[in-house]
Amino acid sequence: MRNNINLNVQSLLNQYFHQRVIWVTGASSGIGLALVEALHAMGALVIVSARNEEALTHIQSRLGAARIHVVVLDLANSDSIKSGFEKAQAWHNRIDIVFNNGGISQRSDALQTDLKVVRQIMEVNFFANVQITQLVLPGMIERGFGHVVVTSSLMGKWGFYLRSAYGASKHALHGYYDSVRMEVEQKGIRITLLTPGFIATEISKHALVADGSLSGDMDANQSNGISAIECAAQILKGVANGSTELPVGGKELRGLWVKRFFPSLFERILRKQKAR
Ligand SMILES: NC(=O)c1ccc[n+]([C@@H]2O[C@H](COP(=O)([O-])OP(=O)(O)OC[C@H]3O[C@@H](n4cnc5c(N)ncnc54)[C@H](OP(=O)(O)O)[C@@H]3O)[C@@H](O)[C@H]2O)c1
Repeated sequence: MRNNINLNVQSLLNQYFHQRVIWVTGASSGIGLALVEALHAMGALVIVSARNEEALTHIQSRLGAARIHVVVLDLANSDSIKSGFEKAQAWHNRIDIVFNNGGISQRSDALQTDLKVVRQIMEVNFFANVQITQLVLPGMIERGFGHVVVTSSLMGKWGFYLRSAYGASKHALHGYYDSVRMEVEQKGIRITLLTPGFIATEISKHALVADGSLSGDMDANQSNGISAIECAAQILKGVANGSTELPVGGKELRGLWVKRFFPSLFERILRKQKAR
């Protein structure tokens, strides 16, 4: 019985992603890389984007050029995003699903953080998503199908020490996409906001500190989080099911429930957590 249920879930996933043209940003490492591998295994045609060309080419040489297309881009640069979209679109003349996944985190006190760093985080985590969404939506609407998946965070649901700009960028995604969803859902477009908790990637090492340099430190919460492969499996199941907002992770997701039903208790618990 259980095997039958698993087979049904797997076939639902395969049906949803098979032969779809899917654009994944932040594909060079972590969650994005795990999504690319899982989507490729389901028969999708995947456009992989990030700045690190070597990492993207390595994915292509491992999985094959027939269903992996490399588009190098910088999410902090709107010209680069525009030309990236043109290259992505030209591959099969359509984009069915986009995973707006690329992002950078922060580990710095709000008052010490250079305004340039705040703007950079907003540019990569918020404005780049908006630009990509504006570029892909017209074609999706014309074809009557499209799915925009956006990687927010639990930091898009509440604030935390050393994450002021990061939290702001992720909160902004919710306001934007909850509104856009209402405008486009009648046109065959789905929008899913992902709120991952602790995922075992190097995001904390890649996080920006107050002057814009990289933190370089691996945080315990990330080290102890669920694997990127498990995260991608949870994401793809929820996306295929059409979730509008999808928490992904382990026991830290209980915070969503505690915040909702016991907000004062949640505030007290949050303040007792270590900053990193
Ligand atoms: N890991 C977690 O615990 C966690 C929790 C909640 C949310 N998230 C979110 O999950 C997403 C993926 O993060 P991850 O955990 O997989 O971390 P990661 O391994 O550091 O991946 C980040 C990805 O974003 C890309 N990226 C960063 N800046 C970019 C830029 N300017 N232009 C183009 N690409 C850029 C990176 O590629 P290049 O460096 O090659 O450009 C990389 O592929 C992010 O949006 C993050 O906020 C992660």
